[in-house]
Amino acid sequence: MRRTGGLAILGAVLLAAGVATGDTVSEAQKSVDQRVAAMKEMGGKINEAFQLSGANTADARTKLAAALAIAQSIPSRFPAGTADGDAGVTTRALPKIWSDHAGFQKAADGLAAALKAADAKLAANDSAGADAAFTDVRKACATCHESYRGKAK
Ligand code: HEC
Repeated sequence: MRRTGGLAILGAVLLAAGVATGDTVSEAQKSVDQRVAAMKEMGGKINEAFQLSGANTADARTKLAAALAIAQSIPSRFPAGTADGDAGVTTRALPKIWSDHAGFQKAADGLAAALKAADAKLAANDSAGADAAFTDVRKACATCHESYRGKAK
């Protein structure tokens, strides 16, 4: 099959590029590693914001702003060639991210909106509202993961 052949050639080219630079990590894998690190950082900022939300609203909002910046970068962190099944990458990113890009974008927008809503509650010193908003933030993570993230590798 043409397509399989093309992928095999691409794999060989990537392998050759890796060998030439003495670098064993493919560019595609670097993208994956960077987005996984970004996701972890985002989760960390949100946890910190949640912990701070009762005591120090200003610091909590700073953490949320950092999380929002990462959330807004999510769609750009999935270049072609970085899906589960592509050559040279180990990733949980399902091909559906690319076949249903509008849905993926919508899930990312949903997280951004949930983070903004949490920030608005903090700004208003509404602590019960903020707690509920943090629950919505976690739901927004799960909504995307359920559809677009595969099994742990
Ligand atoms: C728009 C979709 C989307 C949203 C929203 C999203 N994630 Fe993810 N997340 C993914 C995908 C896809 C992966 C797998 C990335 C890979 O393996 O290349 C992932 C991976 C991760 C990882 C890396 C470790 C692992 O389990 O694979 C963490 C941690 C994570 N997400 C946390 C979060 C948290 C916390 C939130 C919400 C604050 C969130 N994510 C929101 C799509 C999303």
